[in-house]
Amino acid sequence: ARITLRQLLDDAAEYGYGVPAFNINNMEQGLAIMSAAAKVDAPVILQVSRGARSYAGDIMLARMVDALVEMHPDVPLCLHQDHGNDEATCLTAIQHGFTSVMMDGSLEADAATPASYDYNVAITARVAEAAHAVGASIEGELGVLGSLETGSGEAEDGHGFTGTLAQEQLLTDPDQAQDFVARTAVDALAIAMGTSHGAYKFSRRPDGGILAMHIIEEIHRRLPSVHLVMHGSSSVPEALQDMFNRYGGQMRPTWGVPVEEIERGIRHGVRKINIDTDCRLAMTAQFRRIASLQPDEFDPRKFLKPAMEELQNLCRERFEQFGTAGNG
Ligand code: G3H
Ligand code: 13P
Ligand code: NA
Ligand code: ZN
Repeated sequence: ARITLRQLLDDAAEYGYGVPAFNINNMEQGLAIMSAAAKVDAPVILQVSRGARSYAGDIMLARMVDALVEMHPDVPLCLHQDHGNDEATCLTAIQHGFTSVMMDGSLEADAATPASYDYNVAITARVAEAAHAVGASIEGELGVLGSLETGSGEAEDGHGFTGTLAQEQLLTDPDQAQDFVARTAVDALAIAMGTSHGAYKFSRRPDGGILAMHIIEEIHRRLPSVHLVMHGSSSVPEALQDMFNRYGGQMRPTWGVPVEEIERGIRHGVRKINIDTDCRLAMTAQFRRIASLQPDEFDPRKFLKPAMEELQNLCRERFEQFGTAGNG
């Protein structure tokens, strides 16, 4: 059954677990994520970016999610707009059956100027009012994460964001978070806490303490009923990098967010954990493996089936690690 982000994360807060939000663009990802959830009795957040909507088309995505709900009637499912950038994106998502939208007013904020903050507050408050009027939830964002928001974009992951000093300066300010929530009434708040989007988050193995736990704790303490969201939460598992590279891929050495760090985050109030890169890597590592081991293969299903299995395993693992399993 379809539920809102507010309903889902209220339950997560009550029972102290986190919920991964997996990005989807196509049928195979939808099938894999839902199978994993059904197997471990977990609720699901499927999130759809603007890019996903233009890739698959709104009608296809909406009908696909209808089908997933019909196939898995017992799995609580929240369909969420990832990184909405204006009213039209968020409101048309709701028209297509999304129960939650992210209005990312921080995308415009190239610097933490008063003007960009006011813009973020105003547009987020407007979307929140519209979403709440029709029973949908809303996530806002305050702060600047990595590559997606420093202007370098996904294609240049790893070049847009370097150095711990810059990172420290970009952490969300708890005073501002409190003001932002009071003025927007968001259900969930994405904060900058030390992560960035994409595969290239850290150039060395992070030795613990990479998340700004004090920021998470402080914001959670001041805003206990607002659910904290952690973007850029892929772990970029070494095993998947190895598979990808063993079969001809050329991913540069990189480290993501260690799962134990995410688990610590959940203990300090993080509820929604956004994961896209790991899902992409799980599937394409299998594409490469099949292409390399069976160079005569040309049936796409022979590529997509192992890719779905790899993704399903990844999702299942995260549901178990984040405590989502058993709460469906
Ligand atoms: O945060 C962005 C997500 O990873 C979605 O990426 O815009 O390439 O679909 P996308
Ligand atoms: P990753 O790139 O770490 O998977 O983050 C995805 C994300 O935050 C989507 O909003
Ligand atoms: Na931001
Ligand atoms: Zn994100």
